[in-house]
Amino acid sequence: MPDPDFKIIALDGGAASGKSSTSRGVAKRLNYLYVNSGAHYRTMTYFMLEAGINHRSDEEIQAALDKLTLSTQVEGNSSIMHINGEACAGEIITSPEINANVSLFAAKRPIRSFLLEFQRAQVEVAREHNFKGIIMEGRDIGTVIFPDANFKFFLSASAGVREERREREGQTDLVVQRDTLDAKRTTAPFVPADHSIRINTDTLDLQEVIDLVTGIILTGRVPGTITTQPFSKDDTPSASES
Ligand code: DC
Repeated sequence: MPDPDFKIIALDGGAASGKSSTSRGVAKRLNYLYVNSGAHYRTMTYFMLEAGINHRSDEEIQAALDKLTLSTQVEGNSSIMHINGEACAGEIITSPEINANVSLFAAKRPIRSFLLEFQRAQVEVAREHNFKGIIMEGRDIGTVIFPDANFKFFLSASAGVREERREREGQTDLVVQRDTLDAKRTTAPFVPADHSIRINTDTLDLQEVIDLVTGIILTGRVPGTITTQPFSKDDTPSASES
């Protein structure tokens, strides 16, 4: 019988806003499946670059997609996407080359529609593995992938803080430029979902953010200091975070 308490959590936010560490921490605490949808786009970008596909050509992209099979491997609390049976993770997909190209491929409709069903099907993967829920991080999880999620979070941080985080990780990543590209695309643009729970992580450490998110999921209560306003037109992440 399906677990009636199973929950779907959408956690969106800009580059280096703290999404991955927070989602991983929450998943561990609550025994949820953790899914990093950014890694899906990064893996796809790696695959397309290796195959010499031009990001401007929908035909080339579609022909490459027609040869792909996606599958999932669950390692601990994490879901790992495999392309044609092979995982692609770690430094390979966080290289400067991938950072510079991922927004270009992520803007392409054929790639987004190819990943959409795979991402939605992660709920079944989580249930089959008896997790208590699923937390998926990305840019369009609350708006497109799981618009009916039990909770939708939106993390932000100022540009300076985000750049510093990437530097500390030893990464070359133009975070604001990438967010602007992601926010301006026509397919599934990166904008906060209506009534998402907005958390600015500038002055919070990782444990505080994990505590906050976990507390909201468990109690259903949002502290008064946190905003949940509807999305407004001028509310693009690049406008609010730079
Ligand atoms: O979360 P990340 O920085 O690793 O994501 C890499 C890129 O993938 C990001 O610049 C935009 C794209 N992305 C997306 O378009 N939609 C998602 N749900 C997740 C990521």
